Amino acid sequence: MKLSLTCCIASLTWQAISVYIPLESRDPSRPSLQYTPNYFEQRIDHYPGDCKSPQHTNATFKQRYYVDSSYYKPGGPVFLYIGGETSGPSRFSNLRTGIIQILMEATNGLGVILENRYYGQSYPFNSSTTDDLVYLTTPQTLADNAHFAQHAVFPGVDGDLTAPGTPWILYGGSLAGAQTAFSIKEHGDVLYGGIASSAPVTSSVGYPAWYRPIQKFAPQDCVTRINRIVDNFDSLVSAGNTAAIREFKAIFGLEALTDHRDFATTIAYPIGNPGFYPTNTWQELNWNASYGSNDFFKFCDSVTAADAPDGITQVDYAFSNYTDGEPWTGLGGYTDYIKKAVLPLCPSGDYNSNACFGTQDEAAWAHTGNSASRSYLYTSCTEQGAYIDAPKDGPSLLSRVVDTSYEQQWCHWAFPDGRFNKIPTQPDLNGDQDVWNDLCYHSSLAPRRTESTDLHPQYLITGAGHHWDSSGILDVAAEPQFIREAHKWEIRTVKRWLDGFEQWKALKKWNSK
Ligand SMILES: *[C@@H]1O[C@H](CO)[C@@H](O)[C@H](O)[C@H]1NC(C)=O
Ligand SMILES: *[C@@H]1O[C@H](CO)[C@@H](O)[C@H](O)[C@H]1NC(C)=O
Ligand SMILES: *[C@@H]1O[C@H](CO)[C@@H](O)[C@H](O)[C@H]1NC(C)=O
Ligand SMILES: *[C@@H]1O[C@H](CO)[C@@H](O)[C@H](O)[C@H]1NC(C)=O
Repeated sequence: MKLSLTCCIASLTWQAISVYIPLESRDPSRPSLQYTPNYFEQRIDHYPGDCKSPQHTNATFKQRYYVDSSYYKPGGPVFLYIGGETSGPSRFSNLRTGIIQILMEATNGLGVILENRYYGQSYPFNSSTTDDLVYLTTPQTLADNAHFAQHAVFPGVDGDLTAPGTPWILYGGSLAGAQTAFSIKEHGDVLYGGIASSAPVTSSVGYPAWYRPIQKFAPQDCVTRINRIVDNFDSLVSAGNTAAIREFKAIFGLEALTDHRDFATTIAYPIGNPGFYPTNTWQELNWNASYGSNDFFKFCDSVTAADAPDGITQVDYAFSNYTDGEPWTGLGGYTDYIKKAVLPLCPSGDYNSNACFGTQDEAAWAHTGNSASRSYLYTSCTEQGAYIDAPKDGPSLLSRVVDTSYEQQWCHWAFPDGRFNKIPTQPDLNGDQDVWNDLCYHSSLAPRRTESTDLHPQYLITGAGHHWDSSGILDVAAEPQFIREAHKWEIRTVKRWLDGFEQWKALKKWNSK
């Protein structure tokens, strides 16, 4: 088993190594390279004999995948980019210029994006009722990866590149990073290695720690101002000061949001908040702005502007009567930014509708059409949790009116009990952390537990955000230093793994005798 976690602390000795970048790799057309979809006949249910699953099927669905063979030379490895919670095409940059391009170039490898079941065009069913979603589980998703690796064909590429005869190395970021880690853990007899970037491999129902890096690393005047405004608002709420609360919502133009949590969530959009957000947040910062957005800093600029016009700074005093005459410093800039950057995202002006910033319309949650946000919510509700809520102690960037019951309520509205599937009252986190707890699963596809865990590198990329190593610019040497060094480390690590592949194969053969 070879698995690396780039979100963890580095435990690696550095080696000086230079990365040779052939000029042809800087092909100017690569950033807009197009890929045609291929379809793999995937099993809907990898465990038709599973005694726990109430409905079994031998049916298949078409799982979409994309192939880049532009660097491939016979004998090279296969890099499988795990699609995660979005469509295949939205991951193209990883093949064109990102981490898969970097690794393909370094090793004559072939790159593949496999779209996750229940995302993009890879839906087993035409709707997403609670029953339809019964096969959207971590074990099924991991088994997709292993089954695909054992049977995939690559148009235009000669020879059999299936696993385990060819080294398959997975890469995933975020939820897909966790899937990468679990795939290697559970199917390490088929899949040779994996890089799990920013992978939430443990989970909890609530996840207030989401705000910790922002609290620590964002411009501190901005952070402190928001913390104080949140404290002051929360005091109005604890005091039950209905009139002042209404007035406070109104200075953001959001008096229509009757649920305090919807309001608190909406004014936290530029920072990040529970559920679905229509704006860029802290998470969308990137070392190269063309792969992300600097909107978070624009928001902070507005909250902290030193030269704001009087009309803005006067707003800071609008509620000073509730704080012994102390102004709510930054409030004017805060409201101004929300009015300019967030309210226009709801052109109908019906802010309280579920189509805009409201979440309390039960019927709207119950629509069963296929969508990425519905699939993602299902996974959150059943296995993942990690509902972003306000911290219980210390300063907060999100009003403390938001707790985990806010998102849990959406789960119950969205996924009423089906005929043979129902969601748990809270996410079933054990299932996620140890997906093979269930002996029934073991019985059908038991992996051999003999793989080596010797190579288990990990790396914390200094100053980096959410899987920042995914992006590249076709020139590792020209990248900012911490990303450059992370990429060079990933290349070295993968090359060392590949050096050990024949030995791994021989050991497997020996073990199976
Ligand atoms: C799936 O196929 C296997 C082998 O043919 C069979 O034993 C099993 O009953 C089938 N399961 C279902 C749910 O049809
Ligand atoms: C989904 O809809 C398409 C087009 O209407 C149809 O061809 C297909 O059979 C349906 N699939 C399922 C699983 O119902
Ligand atoms: C604050 O209180 C004073 C005295 O009651 C009042 O005159 C003033 O209008 C209040 N200011 C605001 C902004 O409500
Ligand atoms: C950001 O990416 C663009 C597009 O690949 C590139 O032109 C630019 O040089 C990059 N900037 C930095 C700082 O890497």
